[in-house]
Amino acid sequence: MTFEDVVELSKRRGFFWPSYSIYGGSSGFYDYGPLGSVMKDNIINAWKRAYAAEGAVFVDTPVISPGEVFRASGHLEKFSDIAVKCSNCKTAYKFESLLKNLDIKEMAENTDQADSILLKYRIKCPKCGSPLNNSYNFNLMFRIENEFLYLRPETAQGIFVNFKNLLNYSRSVLPLIVCQVGKGFRNEISPRQALIRMREFTQAEVEVFYDNADSFSPDSIKNGPALNLLRNNGESLNISAFEALSSGVVNSPAMAYFINKTFMFLSSLGLDPAAIRAREHSPEERAHYSSETWDFEFFMDSEWIEIVGISDRNSYDLSRHRDASGQDMSVNGSIPHVIEPSHGVDRIFLSIMNGCYYRRENGYKVLKLRPEISPVHFAVFPLQRKDGLDSTARDMFTALKAIDPFIFYDESGTIGRRYARQDEIGTSFCITVDYQTRDDGTVTVRERDSSKQKRVDFRVLLEMARNYPASFTALFVE
Ligand code: GAP
Repeated sequence: MTFEDVVELSKRRGFFWPSYSIYGGSSGFYDYGPLGSVMKDNIINAWKRAYAAEGAVFVDTPVISPGEVFRASGHLEKFSDIAVKCSNCKTAYKFESLLKNLDIKEMAENTDQADSILLKYRIKCPKCGSPLNNSYNFNLMFRIENEFLYLRPETAQGIFVNFKNLLNYSRSVLPLIVCQVGKGFRNEISPRQALIRMREFTQAEVEVFYDNADSFSPDSIKNGPALNLLRNNGESLNISAFEALSSGVVNSPAMAYFINKTFMFLSSLGLDPAAIRAREHSPEERAHYSSETWDFEFFMDSEWIEIVGISDRNSYDLSRHRDASGQDMSVNGSIPHVIEPSHGVDRIFLSIMNGCYYRRENGYKVLKLRPEISPVHFAVFPLQRKDGLDSTARDMFTALKAIDPFIFYDESGTIGRRYARQDEIGTSFCITVDYQTRDDGTVTVRERDSSKQKRVDFRVLLEMARNYPASFTALFVE
C-alpha cells in the first residue's frame, strides 16, 4: 500500500489526522484519533517493557527549559538547519531537502558552501521558478516570547541535568540506564509526510551512562541476529552486531549492544527485518555532540526513513553541564560515557502502519498488527440480529469487557463486512455468537491473518482473555 493509502485509512478510521482542520490546519501538527492514541500507547508500553528488562529507570521532566540548559548543551549555537527563502514567493526550504529532491549528492557544512551549491546547480524555487540564493542558518528551537525559555528539541537534556539526582537514586552504580518518553518540539522549516517531520512529536529516549568498556559484554549479543548495515563508506553488510563489533565496523561494545537491542525491539513490533537497516552517519552528518551515530531506518514507500538514532554522546553533555553549572558530574573521578538510543515514536507508528497494511487476494484491506500493538483486541458479533443471538452476544461482550476493555461490539451489516471492518483496523480476533452458542455455549474465534476459526467454550474464552494475547495466539498454533 502507498503512503497515501495509509493516510487515507488513518483519517477515515481514526488513527491520525492533521490538527486544527476546522481552522484550515497548521503545518507540522497531527492528532492521534481514538484508535491511534491507544496504538501509540501500546508502542510506548512495549518500549518501556523492553528497557525495564534492562534495569532502566524512567523520568518525566518539563517540556520548557531555561535557555541556560541549551546554551550549555550547544543547541543554542548549533541546533540549526541551513535554509533558503525564495525572494519572490517567500517560500522557505530546508537546504538538505532541496538537494535531496533534485538528487544532488553534495552536502554543505555552512551557508557559504550552500550558496556555492545553489549557484553551481542554478537551483530554482520549486514553487515559482525564481533563482534561489542567500542561504541562512535557522535555529530549530521554539522560544517562549520575551523569556529566556525554550520548548525542548529533545527529551535528553531533562535526563542530563538530573544526572546527580539519578546517581543518588541509583546509589552511584553504573551502568545507569535512564529513559524518558515525551514531546519534543522543532520549528521544522518544511514539515512533511504526516508524522515523519512534525513540529511537535514524541520521542522515547534512552541515556545509558557507563564508565568502562566492559559494561556491555559482547558475549551477551554473540547469538544476535544478522541485520542490514550501511557504512558511511557505502559498503552494505548483513552481519550481526557482534560481528560488526569484532570486525571494527562498530566502535564500541555499548554501541554494538544497543544496535542489537534496537533491531530486536523494532522487529518485535512487527516491522519486517528485511525493511530495516542501520546506517552509519558520516562525520559531517553527525550532530554536534556525537562521535559515532547509527540511524535505524525503515523502508517505506520507496524511501528509507530514519526512525531511531543511536549516538555515542561520550561525556559531551555531562562535561558541558558541569562547566556551565559548576556541579560535579563525575563518578569515581571521571565523567561517565553516554550511548543514546533515541526513538521517534511517531515515525515508528507510521512505519508499523505502512509495513502492516496490505490487500488480500479478494481485494479486502488488512492491517496486520501484532496483537500487542492492536488498539482493539476483540470484536464481538452476533451472527444475526434475531432469535436472541444479539442479546446473548451483548451479554458476552459485557462479560469480556470487564476483563479486557479493548473490545468492540458490532451487529450491523453482513458478517463478512463486519470481519472486513475489523481487519482494516488490525483487530486481532473476532468472536461470533451463532445458533450453536444457544445449544452448547461455544462461540467461534476467528484469527485475522489466517481467517481460521476455532470453536471455544465461552467460559474458557473468558479465562483466555485474562492472558491476552498469548492464550489466543496459542489457540491458532497448529
Ligand atoms: N536526542 C537525540 C535526538 O533527538 P534525533 O536524531 O534528532 O536525535 C531522534 O531525533 C528521533 O526523533 C529521530 O530518529 C526521529 O525518529 C525522531 N524525530 C526527530 N525529529 C522529528 C520530527 N520533526 N518529527 C517526527 N519525528 C522526529
